Amino acid sequence: MSSSVAQNQRVLSGMRPTGRLHLGHYHGVLKNWIELQHSYECLFFVADWHALTTHYEQPQMLAESVWEMVVDWLAAGISPGAAKLFIQSRVPEHAELHLLLSMITPLGWLERVPTYKDQQEKLKEKDLSTYGFLGYPLLQSADVLIYKAGLVPVGEDQVAHLEVTREVARRFNHLYGREPGFAEKAEAAIDKMGKKNARLYRDLRRRYQEQGDTQALEVGRALLETQQNISLGDRERLFGYLEGSTKLILVEPQPLLAKTSKMPGLDGQKMSKSYGNTISLREAPEMVEKKIRTMPTDPARVRRTDPGDPDKCPVWALHQVYSDEAVHQFVQQGCREAGIGCIECKQPVIDAVLRELTPIQERAQEYEADPAAVRAIIAEGCEAARDMARETLDEVRRSMGLGYR
Ligand code: TRP
Ligand code: SF4
Repeated sequence: MSSSVAQNQRVLSGMRPTGRLHLGHYHGVLKNWIELQHSYECLFFVADWHALTTHYEQPQMLAESVWEMVVDWLAAGISPGAAKLFIQSRVPEHAELHLLLSMITPLGWLERVPTYKDQQEKLKEKDLSTYGFLGYPLLQSADVLIYKAGLVPVGEDQVAHLEVTREVARRFNHLYGREPGFAEKAEAAIDKMGKKNARLYRDLRRRYQEQGDTQALEVGRALLETQQNISLGDRERLFGYLEGSTKLILVEPQPLLAKTSKMPGLDGQKMSKSYGNTISLREAPEMVEKKIRTMPTDPARVRRTDPGDPDKCPVWALHQVYSDEAVHQFVQQGCREAGIGCIECKQPVIDAVLRELTPIQERAQEYEADPAAVRAIIAEGCEAARDMARETLDEVRRSMGLGYR
């Protein structure tokens, strides 16, 4: 992938509205989005329908969670100038694509997604034996496919959903990708790439189709990704033509796994609301200080004079996120030789977290004070997203025989 990742690919990701975000979201997801928004065309959305698949009994919590999350995105540094921000349910095209894709999706594909059974087990108090919950990964597929997104930044737990998305796209293209005059259109598109690239493309295509040379296929795809002067439609034709004889209407996305590691919580486990070990992005500074001061440490350090082992201490995990080499030295030595107290050891972490949160909280306050501005950002994003979504949906409708009037 890496070398062939094209800047002209679309990036899309969604988050279920869970209310105010915490440092785990910031380090695990948002920092990555913030970086991506400057290199790619990015779409980020609030997956409110996905929230309803599990929280259909608490619809009253949606509105508040949605707006709190959007404010946190903006406060964290997601820029409405760089990325499009929108709300899933305000682009109803996702729902129509979900419906149309459901016609061709075998039940087994959804039943065997690991999160289906796992989540039912984990959320025992909820009845998740619903049609909507089974369809969760297919709705997610519609979210991605409707924008022809090439890259989807997600966590490990979402890779299986992306795999469903890819399978569905492949099946769709196989069933509906035949268009009249396809080969002629593809040949004309090849010529638009210029003499040299056209010759290269034809050569790679022959090597793949006649000798099964998968390396040639890879190179061919990379070549297409760098082509600036062919239309989106032609590009899809050429992707399909490279491999076979059908047009690729829907694009198979790749997951983009964040390189950021899991953010440790106050107790050393992964930071998560369900463990009650979080620091929220809008946590009051006094609370940040209090939470870190009362964090558990190496249980062997009962008294100030007892030596400790940072590897057995959740504070050390935070130092790895926040501190530089010099502080690492100070902690390692001070802890092992009982040269420092735990409060002393925690101070640099407190300072670093506060330093990180101050500008975020200042921005959050500004957005909180101006809800109309937040609504306007979302309205604009929804409109732009709808325009893109309609284009794909028109094509999908036509290819499924629904273009008649
Ligand atoms: N299922 C994702 C999660 O729980 C949220 C989501 C919904 C999503 N639709 C998406 C993520 C499309 C990426 C792309 O995190
Ligand atoms: Fe943990 Fe630091 Fe105390 Fe050692 S000195 S136990 S690393 S808080």
